[in-house]
Amino acid sequence: MPAAELNSLVYVSSAVRLLSPAEIEYLLTRARERNQEYGITGVLLYIGGNFMQYIEGPADNLELVYKIIREDEQHSGIILVTREAIEERQFGDWSMAYQTRDAQDYVGSPEERGLLEKQLKLPPTNPSTARIVLHSFWNRNSS
Ligand SMILES: Cc1cc2nc3c(=O)[nH]c(=O)nc-3n(C[C@H](O)[C@H](O)[C@H](O)COP(=O)(O)O)c2cc1C
Repeated sequence: MPAAELNSLVYVSSAVRLLSPAEIEYLLTRARERNQEYGITGVLLYIGGNFMQYIEGPADNLELVYKIIREDEQHSGIILVTREAIEERQFGDWSMAYQTRDAQDYVGSPEERGLLEKQLKLPPTNPSTARIVLHSFWNRNSS
């Protein structure tokens, strides 16, 4: 039997108010629990009150989790940037990686951040639209 089709998507949104580190931690904990259950992996970037999130996984589960995310009232102005089928996972090691450029919003270990920073660089050949968009959001917001 063929493996379930893998899809990915990227959206941007804005936090309705600035989230505290404790609120970010809680959001990540809940997100990671559910993502593990549904086979979803990805990365969440949070910079200057704006989110960019990449999620990937089996097509049906991806839509289910994306719906849950859209219904969360902690953010608004959600815009889908790209949705594409993928051959293999780009963030397979992370049930939800997290990265920020704002010192007050750092949660997670420095090791994790180092690993992830590498992952936000462009792959040398044939980068997917999602990787280009993530790279550009991450670098445009560098100060
Ligand atoms: C920016 C943002 C990213 C989120 N990412 C995920 C995610 O990757 N997976 C997920 O299941 N939920 C995600 N959520 C949804 C929240 O985790 C969810 O609404 C929260 O877990 C509350 O659900 P609960 O009432 O079941 O605790 C996200 C929400 C926001 C605002």
